[in-house]
Amino acid sequence: MKHNMAIIGYGGMGTWHHMNIKENINEITVVGAYDIREEVREKAEKNGIYFYNSLDELLNDEKVDLVLVATPNNFHKELVISSLRSGKNVICEKPVSLSSSELEEMIAVSKETKKLFSVHQNRRWDKDYSIIKKIVNDNIIGKPYFIESRVQGSRRSLDGWRRYKINGGGMVYDWGVHLIDQILNLIPGKITSVDAHLFSVFSEEVDDNFKALLRFENGISTLVEIATNCFINQPRWHMSCEDGTAIVQDWDCNGKIIKLASDKKMEWTNDIVYTSAGPTRTMAPRPSDTVDEIPLPNVDVQWADYYKNIVDVIDNGADLIVKPEQSLRVAKIIDTIFESQRQGVGIKCNI
Ligand SMILES: NC(=O)c1ccc[n+]([C@@H]2O[C@H](COP(=O)([O-])OP(=O)(O)OC[C@H]3O[C@@H](n4cnc5c(N)ncnc54)[C@H](O)[C@@H]3O)[C@@H](O)[C@H]2O)c1
Repeated sequence: MKHNMAIIGYGGMGTWHHMNIKENINEITVVGAYDIREEVREKAEKNGIYFYNSLDELLNDEKVDLVLVATPNNFHKELVISSLRSGKNVICEKPVSLSSSELEEMIAVSKETKKLFSVHQNRRWDKDYSIIKKIVNDNIIGKPYFIESRVQGSRRSLDGWRRYKINGGGMVYDWGVHLIDQILNLIPGKITSVDAHLFSVFSEEVDDNFKALLRFENGISTLVEIATNCFINQPRWHMSCEDGTAIVQDWDCNGKIIKLASDKKMEWTNDIVYTSAGPTRTMAPRPSDTVDEIPLPNVDVQWADYYKNIVDVIDNGADLIVKPEQSLRVAKIIDTIFESQRQGVGIKCNI
């Protein structure tokens, strides 16, 4: 079935959605957009879509059955709720809300109206993340116990509304939400503590760098980090597993796995070894034939698969991949990150 989409907020991401859908998804036609800035009209019309004169005009357009909300974060709640109440299925950009209580209100309305509601957590289809997920799921190097997920840059700037607290600016909301969503979909089980360190290196109002340690009840711990003031990058992923280590270095997915060799004897004399680190047994280099280096596994993923699932849910009742309840867990972790920073300590939780 063909679906007609209208976009609220035709800025950077709204326009990206339009172009991406046009190129990749036959089942969705973007028919129009609304934006509070009148000057966006020209761009929308040039891109071949109708520019609504008001939000109400968009919400009352009967041919529209799917609305995409891509405004600054603080407007999401109100716009999602009014779209659902107008009988539309709704996709909202991340972070879907500024708190878990806001999201609970939105979920309640989606249940009441029985309309589809999903958050555009497109980074579940990132190649680097999918490689890490495959290494874990296929048990390539055993059980993970510490996973580090980092996105680092050095531009020292937050674009436009992202620098203001009132708009839900800052890096926890902007990039953190992606990394947390990925981790929650990688590791099963509850999170029992959150210890967050937020920094405002150059920003007046919001966090521009942060690190958060998340402890799972199953013994796995993770570190998520976003940096905008980092001049020497660490790998995008560094994963410590019982039988090896995996690194995904960058967005191009350079990297490697070093694993214990299964067919080699793991024995050597335990004499003290004189190394550059000084005399040591523990940190002495291991014999090179006791490990194997293997390439990262191949994966085939596309961001467009997010919309394919949305269409499949509406048309065929398929299982929704990005569920609102999953986004609620992410929102609760984010609440706890801010609480940890406020109190200056790690916070016990059961999320
Ligand atoms: N999933 C991703 O990979 C990804 C990437 C970038 C941005 N985003 C998200 O997309 C959303 C938009 O970000 P952006 O980078 O496109 O911002 P942007 O500033 O480029 O665009 C936002 C647009 O919304 C319009 N707007 C503001 N308030 C509005 C309102 N009340 N009603 C209608 N229009 C309104 C603005 O005029 C602007 O054109 C944010 O929630 C952001 O976090 C997601």
